[in-house]
Amino acid sequence: MKERIDKIIASQGKYSRTEVKKLIKNGSVKLNGAVVHSPEEKADAENDVISLNGEAICFRRFLYIMMNKPQGVISATSDRTQRTVLDLLPDEMRRDGLFPAGRLDGDTTGFVLITDDGETAHKMLSPKSHVSKVYLARLAYPLSSETADIFKTGVILSDGSVCMSAVLTLLEDGETPLVKVILKQGMYHQIKRMFASCGNRVIALKRIQIGGVTLDSKLKEGECRLLTADEIKKLTQMEEQK
Ligand code: URA
Repeated sequence: MKERIDKIIASQGKYSRTEVKKLIKNGSVKLNGAVVHSPEEKADAENDVISLNGEAICFRRFLYIMMNKPQGVISATSDRTQRTVLDLLPDEMRRDGLFPAGRLDGDTTGFVLITDDGETAHKMLSPKSHVSKVYLARLAYPLSSETADIFKTGVILSDGSVCMSAVLTLLEDGETPLVKVILKQGMYHQIKRMFASCGNRVIALKRIQIGGVTLDSKLKEGECRLLTADEIKKLTQMEEQK
């Protein structure tokens, strides 16, 4: 439900309506990252992010953030030496308890979901739930004709573990082909190890989809946005649609 933004902020009890109007006039209030210019602007307290002097006012129970992870940034909450996906979040999306739901290698780019909804993340990551993840991979060598069949049957990795059936589609043929891979599990370095077992090598990897949610092509590397209500529904109901 949409309501006047000054009313929503004042309803949190810290500032009066008059004080909120002043804060808006000073440019201290943002709605989903954009400065609010009028107290009459409408917002949805449940689904929009409202921030005051750079700090989010947390009306939403959980945040679900889609990030297009660049290379060289790690999928962790904090690290002494390396930048993490949480370091890239804009102020208005920062909140205690956020973590990346699943890992991409440091040199892999693309869709990382950042959330504070532990239950949904657990569902997504559980080996039992088999949520599909879609990747684009650039390979170092031409694709041999049997690779797609091996992926379908189940690649045997160098340590003897057998992968679940995966779908491999050739998108661009050539000396360094581009392929799409759909996986329903997430073992350590899985795609790189699958291609290594087939005598090939991944030179670039990007995740473009998790369950029914596709990475927004408008997000540049390092950028993020909140999931829409529809996307949240797709993720939280993953058990049914995978
Ligand atoms: N498979 C990999 O090898 N790396 C990733 O980051 C994701 C899947």
